[in-house]
Amino acid sequence: MTDYTTRITTVINGQEETFFCEPRESLLEILRDRLQLTGTKEGCNDGNCGACTVILDGVSVNSCCVLGVEAENASIETIEGLADGDMLHPLQQAFIRETALQCGYCTPGLLMAAKDLLAHEPLPSNERIRLWLANNLCRCTGYTRIIKAVAQAAKELHQKP
Ligand code: FES
Ligand code: FES
Repeated sequence: MTDYTTRITTVINGQEETFFCEPRESLLEILRDRLQLTGTKEGCNDGNCGACTVILDGVSVNSCCVLGVEAENASIETIEGLADGDMLHPLQQAFIRETALQCGYCTPGLLMAAKDLLAHEPLPSNERIRLWLANNLCRCTGYTRIIKAVAQAAKELHQKP
């Protein structure tokens, strides 16, 4: 039997990682099943819900739609790397303050998508936040608190020296 296993070297949350995968495996499968980074969630597995959002080379992507082999030499940020040790990221703090989550299943994806937005647009309008997060579905909160939390975190990050 032919062995299609491929060796991939990448950087995940600032740490170099090497893993072996089959060319058909998604980045989501690799993060969760091979690297035990289970903070990234699987919802639809076809690019429609945003639960699996990670940042790949500075751009938020649905990791269910990216092949693991595409991560070769890439830099990946996942929810596990968002906090700074015990210090939650301002986005995480704002989500807690505003109760912008209920079951929490969508939250890692929303936080990573929001981080990407604020990296490119430090002070987005509420409309812009809503549009940016339109591909991240939440079945619980109704979105208003999520938008408010992202806007608060944006202000806080903007005011930081
Ligand atoms: S699990 Fe990837 S978009 Fe839904
Ligand atoms: S908090 Fe439950 S799906 Fe968003």
